[in-house]
Amino acid sequence: MLENANVIVQNMRAADDLATIAPSARAAGRVTLPGDKSISHRCAMLASIADGVSVIHGYSRGADCTATLACVRALGADVRRRRDDVLISGRGLHGLREPVRTLDAANSGTTMRLMSGILAAQPFVSRFTGDASLQRRPMRRIIDPLQRMGATIESADGFPPLVIHGAPLKSISFRPAAASAQIKSCVLFAGLYADGTTCVEEPIQTRDHTERALETFGVRVTTSDGRVHVEGGQSLRGCEMHVPGDISGAAFWGALAAGTPGGKIAIDHVGLNPSRTGLLSVLERAGALVSRELITTGPGEPSGTLVIRHGTMNSFEVHAAEVAGVIDEIPALAALAVMMPRGCTFSVRGAAELRVKESDRISALATGMRALGARIEEFEDGFILESAPLHAATVDARGDHRLAMAFAIAATRASDPVTILGASAVDVSYPGFFDTLAQLTGATSAELGDG
Ligand code: S3P
Repeated sequence: MLENANVIVQNMRAADDLATIAPSARAAGRVTLPGDKSISHRCAMLASIADGVSVIHGYSRGADCTATLACVRALGADVRRRRDDVLISGRGLHGLREPVRTLDAANSGTTMRLMSGILAAQPFVSRFTGDASLQRRPMRRIIDPLQRMGATIESADGFPPLVIHGAPLKSISFRPAAASAQIKSCVLFAGLYADGTTCVEEPIQTRDHTERALETFGVRVTTSDGRVHVEGGQSLRGCEMHVPGDISGAAFWGALAAGTPGGKIAIDHVGLNPSRTGLLSVLERAGALVSRELITTGPGEPSGTLVIRHGTMNSFEVHAAEVAGVIDEIPALAALAVMMPRGCTFSVRGAAELRVKESDRISALATGMRALGARIEEFEDGFILESAPLHAATVDARGDHRLAMAFAIAATRASDPVTILGASAVDVSYPGFFDTLAQLTGATSAELGDG
């Protein structure tokens, strides 16, 4: 029956925000991705405090990165956008203006946490809020180091909204309790304004986009033995940047290809920064065939082409030490796991951070995957999932973009159509996701290059 049912039925009316995904036996084609979300945020924020004009090609179309542009605009930077190209006239390190209204980070934790590092040093007060999901996300992790540096930050007991009273900052040496690129980046951004050299010591290495972006803007950053140093007072030079495709979006196509017998998907111009490619090793351990060709190397962000194919799929796990490197890819890996032959398992521990993402991803994944037919045992810091035949269900993405995408991928292997509530959340990082899913599940492998 699966062979004849490669149709995706969509129903994305605003009034009833849902998508219905019909089963599909196909996963083939070639895709390009939206620009990397993490890199786009950093480029826009740094461009706003650089001297001169910056041009960012391939800026993420997602709502999160649009929220960042609105914030830097509200702080006085001139921002022009034409499709995926963004031009920002920077205000220089000390030229931002006091925002007239409350800054709104919408659903974006990265916007709030990274921008706060810059706002902490301004000679004015900024009010900063976000949507209901963001208002449930912990901010103590950035409030504490920024207060140690000299800012005063009011919050709702460690949660947004924030009122940031900027002040002259002093440098600190800081070791975050959690492995988090957002905390590291916030402190390094504040460090640009501090007297002396600010140091962040990472318990486990996290994505290094901030370090690379700072270098692109002409700032000296040094990293040794897990410690990242930046000296305050360095000015930033406006520049031209190319943002590669978002590997966290590619993860869903990797899961689709690997989880569909005969599946093969090629992904062009995807970011292949080694601090983000943990996903590929996990896919390989799960039995997928992964080939990658690095095309752009050197300073900045490496990128290239990925081809991911179905292989002999087997049980797999993500070890605690790997979690930081695949934290955003766990929903996609869970989708892959439930598509595998009956009885295959996927386990992850040491991932308590999943509980404070755009949703409580452990609980929401467990509820959704269970509704589809999989078995899942939940722990405070992870889960063990076991595949079983999937069937029709209605699942709630809980307003979380990565859950909406994970459930949509898993749904392609169900016996009957699956309805996803809150499906438009995909727009946070991947506008057009459902169109691409429709193309890939209706395509033929003959359309692919040799890969
Ligand atoms: C991000 C870091 C990660 C990740 C988030 C984006 C970034 O968060 O989950 O989607 O751009 O720095 P943490 O730093 O909180 O782990």
